[in-house]
Amino acid sequence: MGQTLTEKILDDHLVEGELEPGEEIGIEVDQVLTQDTTGTLVWLQFEALELDDVQTEVAAQYCDHQTYQFDFKNTDDHRFLRSAAGKFGAHFSRPGNGICHNVHKENFAAPGKTMLGSDSHTPTPGGMGELAIGAGGLDVAVAMGGGAYYIDMPEVVNVRLEGELPEWATAKDVILELLRRLSVKGGVGKIFEYTGPGVESLSVPERTTITNMGTELGATSSIFPTDERTEEYLEAVGRGEDYEEVAPDEDAEYHDEIVVDLSDLEPLIAEPSMPDNVVPVSEVAGTDVDQVMIGSCTNGAYEDILPAAKMLEGREINKTTEMIVAPGSKQASEMLAREGWTAEMMAAGVNFSEATCGACIGNGHVPASDSVSLRTFNRNFEGRSGIEDDSVYLCSPEVATAAALKGEIVDPRELADEMGDLEDPGFELGDNYVGVSNSDLIAPDEAVDDELIKGPNIGDVPLKDPLPADLSGDVLLKMPDNITTDHISPANADVLMYRSNIPKLSEFTLTRVDDTFPERALEADGGLLLAGENYGQGSSREHAALCPMYLGIDAVLAQSFARIHKANLFNFGIVPLTIDEDTYEDIDQGDSVEIVDDVAEAVRSGAEEITIRVDDDWEATANLDASEREREILADGGKLTHVKQQYESGD
Ligand code: F3S
Repeated sequence: MGQTLTEKILDDHLVEGELEPGEEIGIEVDQVLTQDTTGTLVWLQFEALELDDVQTEVAAQYCDHQTYQFDFKNTDDHRFLRSAAGKFGAHFSRPGNGICHNVHKENFAAPGKTMLGSDSHTPTPGGMGELAIGAGGLDVAVAMGGGAYYIDMPEVVNVRLEGELPEWATAKDVILELLRRLSVKGGVGKIFEYTGPGVESLSVPERTTITNMGTELGATSSIFPTDERTEEYLEAVGRGEDYEEVAPDEDAEYHDEIVVDLSDLEPLIAEPSMPDNVVPVSEVAGTDVDQVMIGSCTNGAYEDILPAAKMLEGREINKTTEMIVAPGSKQASEMLAREGWTAEMMAAGVNFSEATCGACIGNGHVPASDSVSLRTFNRNFEGRSGIEDDSVYLCSPEVATAAALKGEIVDPRELADEMGDLEDPGFELGDNYVGVSNSDLIAPDEAVDDELIKGPNIGDVPLKDPLPADLSGDVLLKMPDNITTDHISPANADVLMYRSNIPKLSEFTLTRVDDTFPERALEADGGLLLAGENYGQGSSREHAALCPMYLGIDAVLAQSFARIHKANLFNFGIVPLTIDEDTYEDIDQGDSVEIVDDVAEAVRSGAEEITIRVDDDWEATANLDASEREREILADGGKLTHVKQQYESGD
């Protein structure tokens, strides 16, 4: 039987296990990526592990989430990151140089390679045939030190693309269509592999829009085969020599198949406040729009902004609507500027932001209260824009620009008919990547630091004691389904500036659910969390496990967990237990929960069923789905202690 592309790449990198769905495998990692909000911890953990040098082919540290230097804290973090990259041998991308996924795509991503990144949209370069997976920072630190990355072998799903996109439909509509069909949970435990005749009609930036937003499906990764479109892109960015043909075998067998006929697609839009609330644009046409934003790692490439620029050429945006363009990389900004498109858009009424995540995580351009914002981003979780009662829609740059022109949501096909002279700008690959010299990217051999520079806001990484025999405590918070890492550890600017100061950052833990939680947790000095389905969805942010750990949380009972967050719970010594819906319903906040067995022994011995006793009154069964390695990590009190012990014992 032939292999899928995913299996081929994993096979080439396999160091442990077998490629059977659900089985734990260990793989060798070629490239790592980290960004500023997760990167400080990555390097503090790399230091705590007493590692000397980066061992991967490429390691790159980006500064994109918190580029605004409001006070000394972000600036100190940037300086620390530059010093860590210099000391340990990573590339350093300066603040303002762009979003990690965009800059990595332009400079490093290569077919057939494996990549691990401490950001949930790490799978973006799957559009170039690289198998890229998002992980917690500690996993990235270990991989950077030459250690294997462990993951349960996902199911590989064939997404067969047929036909070609009709006018005004875009790559964004492909992924919105998948979200409409499958929901934000539809990709959990899966890798989506795109095949079929429709693939060749999509360029690399279009493919990476799809692989980027595969994260919103909950997928482990998404990947395209390579072809002349990939070669064309690599040549355009000056890296033609990195091209390699990678493809599945013709007789590859997939776990499942989904067919998308591109020619059936129309402009789609995700309504507030989940990326899978997808409807045709025509269904919400007429909704007044106060703000339009083009950018982010999903649609921030030069090729994403160019269609907007063409639609705006010689026109003005509606007086009631504000339009902001935030290119995904400085390279994209530079190309637009050199070709005159920046001036064209400015004349139309557009404001430009520096190349940064910015508004995607509520840093700047916060919408007005009770207003509508249309964004080309990948997520619209409630409150993520920086205001609780936000109303954020997700769409393509074409739909966003049409709304900016009209002042309301409009199907661009309708607007084209109405205006008479508005044409689908189409999608063309830039052939003028002027920024390739990249003065903002500092290679390891150009490093300007060889010692770590830590400011006063940069602390040590807290450690947890080994798992005790007795584990009991009160349920300190009962939460519904789909609690995101943004709920657990908010990502807005006034919180994220404490990302290297865990005691301070912990004061914000779960405050978006209950603002008394951090204080109550510290007072309780131990306790549990209770959640519904898909707990911890969203980002790879390990602070969402580290801060609860710091506050004394010992276990989380949930109906299901998001993949990366569950791995982070193991890594920080918090026991993730799965319960059924009835048990969830029957437990109330404030109930006491006791794990009946010797928990350390149960974890080490491989027990899958754990009996819990609630309020000293009734019992239920919880499940611990963990590999042998994860159990050892948990019992040792987390991965940092576990890996250190391994290094000390010479394993
Ligand atoms: Fe940044 Fe938003 Fe992407 S935070 S990495 S632009 S999802």
